[in-house]
Order: sequence, then structure tokens, then C-alpha cells
Amino acid sequence: MSTPTQHIDKDNLPQHIAIIMDGNGRWAKRHSKPRVWGHKNGVKAVRAVTEACAEIGVKYLTLYAFSKENWKRPEVEVNTLMRLFVNTVGSELKTLLKNNIRLKAIGDLDSLPKDTRRALLEAIDRTRSNSRMTLVLALSYSSRWEITQSSKRIAQAVQEGRLSVDEITEETFADHLSTQEIPDPELLIRTSGEYRISNFLMWQISYAELVFSETLWPDFGKEDLYQAIATYQGRERRFGMTGEQVSKS
Ligand code: FPP
Repeated sequence: MSTPTQHIDKDNLPQHIAIIMDGNGRWAKRHSKPRVWGHKNGVKAVRAVTEACAEIGVKYLTLYAFSKENWKRPEVEVNTLMRLFVNTVGSELKTLLKNNIRLKAIGDLDSLPKDTRRALLEAIDRTRSNSRMTLVLALSYSSRWEITQSSKRIAQAVQEGRLSVDEITEETFADHLSTQEIPDPELLIRTSGEYRISNFLMWQISYAELVFSETLWPDFGKEDLYQAIATYQGRERRFGMTGEQVSKS
């Protein structure tokens, strides 16, 4: 059964949606199960949201799957998550290929266990020519890490004479981030009733609309996504201008 999308204006879709998937642990607790059960059920929501974005024509979807700070979690949870990434990337590869979806990853991929990294890079390589939508997984990612890396690369370019200080603009900076070929998200969603950014895409969300959902991630479905898009479409995006200026433009 398909979910109704009548309340969405298809001509005013965000081309990039970023999601902080939160609440897996609490969802598991509510079902009297271990935390990792929540993560396993979170994969269903990943599938539903990816499918919904592809169906309605969103071009980029970025999911915060594992932060640099998440390495501090209990070892058994980290190991289960890494295994879940390998298994999910492997089992979903056929679906990505069939639906013409390109997979990308941002983050400190060198810090991932070998098999997780291998599975990920293989899926990225096999889907690289797909063009309907790009699914970006943020893995071992944090904004401060990314911005530090970008600064180092720029400093290196200046030191080697490939770039002058005067040439460093916002565009130069953005071009050194891991999201260099990806447009900034217009909509950021966080689930589970938490109101934080948690070190996610801090440069890129400068002008994003933030939508917070009370739904815990494993329960987040297509209808919740459509609701978030409808909320985004109800907002006035001013980019520093006045409301009068925006309505005249
Ligand atoms: C946050 O919930 C969730 C995570 C740190 C992991 C997200 C991972 C998945 C949904 C698994 C599959 C993903 C892919 C892309 C294959 P939490 O554990 O912080 O929940 P809590 O705040 O209720 O404790």
C-alpha cells in the first residue's frame, strides 16, 4: 500500500535531506529488548525513507549512521553496529542497483574495521554510475573533524604554493569538505524528540530548515518523512533577507 503524498508540493521539494536517526536505544528499551535490537529495527526505517525519497524525487539523502563520538559506546554495541553496516550494505546492494541509487560515504572511513570499509567501498564503486538519487552514509563522521581536515588540506595547498591565502573563499573551503560534490541540505530532520545538531554537517546546514520529530527512529516511516517535508514547505526561507524582499523575489 502506498502512502499518500497529496500534502506535498512536488515542485518545491528539498533536493537534499539530511537525517539524524535517533532513538533506537529507547525504542528497544520500550520493547524490553537490548539496544542493538533497536539498531536492527532502525534498518527498516532506513529502507522506508530511502525508498520514499527516491519515489518522490529527492536527489540526495544523507543519514547520520555513526558519529566519531559513537566509538565511545560499549564495545558490544559498536561491534554490532559495524556488523550491521556490512550486512545491510551487502543485502541492500541489489536494491540500490535496481533502483539506480548511488551510494556514497562521508567520515573517517580509515577508522572503520576492514570488512566494514571493504563492503562499503565495494558498494560505492558498484553504484557509482547510478543517477536517480545519491544516498550518503555518514560513518565515523563529525563536523569538527571534517572542518579540521579541510583546514589542513587548505594549509597544505598554501604551503606548497598551489593556493594563495587570498584565494581562500567560502567556495574553496566547501570544496575541501567531504561533501564537495553534494549540494547543501535544505532540510535537516532529527528524530526522537532531541533538539541538538550533535556535530553533524555544521558547515553545510547553515541555511537548512530544522525539523524535529518526536517519533523514535525505528518507527519513522514514509508518512513521517512526508510530514517533515510539508513542514519544510510551510516555512519561509529568508537567507538573511526580510520577509518583504523574499515575497517580491
Ligand atoms: C542513534 O540512536 C542511532 C545510531 C547511533 C545508529 C544508527 C544506525 C542504524 C539506524 C542502523 C542502520 C543504518 C544503516 C545506514 C545501515 P541511539 O542509539 O542514540 O538511540 P537512543 O538515543 O534512544 O539511545
